[in-house]
Amino acid sequence: MKESWKDRGFVDEPVPAGIDIKNEIRRMCEEKNAVILAHYYTSGDIQDVADFVGDSLALAQQAAKTTADIIVMCGVHFMAETNKVLCPDKMVLLPDLNAGCSLADTCKAEDLARYKREHPEYKVVAYVNTSAAVKALTDVVVTSSNARQVVESFPKDEKILFAPDKNLGGYLNAITGRNMLLWNGGCHVHERFSIEKIVELKAQYPSAKVLAHPECKSGVLALADYIGSTAAILKFAQTDECDTYLVVTESGILHEMQKSIPGKKFIPVPPVASAGCACNECDYMRMNTMEKLYNCIKYEWPQVELDATMREDALRPIERMLEISAKIKS
Ligand code: 13P
Ligand code: SF4
Repeated sequence: MKESWKDRGFVDEPVPAGIDIKNEIRRMCEEKNAVILAHYYTSGDIQDVADFVGDSLALAQQAAKTTADIIVMCGVHFMAETNKVLCPDKMVLLPDLNAGCSLADTCKAEDLARYKREHPEYKVVAYVNTSAAVKALTDVVVTSSNARQVVESFPKDEKILFAPDKNLGGYLNAITGRNMLLWNGGCHVHERFSIEKIVELKAQYPSAKVLAHPECKSGVLALADYIGSTAAILKFAQTDECDTYLVVTESGILHEMQKSIPGKKFIPVPPVASAGCACNECDYMRMNTMEKLYNCIKYEWPQVELDATMREDALRPIERMLEISAKIKS
């Protein structure tokens, strides 16, 4: 590995001129028995070259059952870590190690460890958008697809700390009637959607339905016709009878929406104070580019590695989540 790559966190090599990068990525995957998993927030070209595109839960489930030798996670760092926790013997690649998550960053393992020491009576429920070190300190992990069922699996009088997303936690308290203590974390993308813009767009498209991710602030969620994970929002639009939607989540989801439901209109709601901008992108997710993807498969770097004890501690709460999720489906 070159020092410059290490410093940058991704392979910094030009892609050979004249190659068909998509074909070459697919050819290398075949040759190396690699599978590309991509989140809905990545760019359309990444989603189109991937073997599987999904929300956080589906990506973890897919990793848990893959027979590939190499998992290439086109998403953010905590997603690659979750894959490594579930598949310790596989090589897990992330095209750019800098692809973090502002929400995961709001909860440091040392802060959570201190809280637990001071409040030993609390169970800890962690959103999947956390580092493996944080997950290792928790009782159970949730994604926005299964959070309600996981929270409801605890006795009603259980003392629970929900970390780190205060918006998702507040929404869960509202729909379950619980009074979980909420960590003061949030996502820089979902926290900045403009309520004014939603109201304005609703006036312009009166029949449009508002689809929102639960990481949005409560004022935004109050305006939503449907609240759910990326996969749930997509499924809702695919099965619902309306023809126009205001989409209040990262705009990468529009790629699959437009592809799978070409007859409907999807309008991305812009963030606050961004006149003229019609998008709302997660800069971490967008660090995944075709060039970095090509290079990371070619050079099998950067890999995501985990300390063995931390991995084992993080595995239990993730497995518990997957068990509860399996019951939801059956
Ligand atoms: P989903 O689990 O709904 O895909 O959300 C992941 C995420 O990072 C939202 O910001
Ligand atoms: Fe993290 Fe927000 Fe990006 Fe999702 S959209 S990966 S929560 S920073």
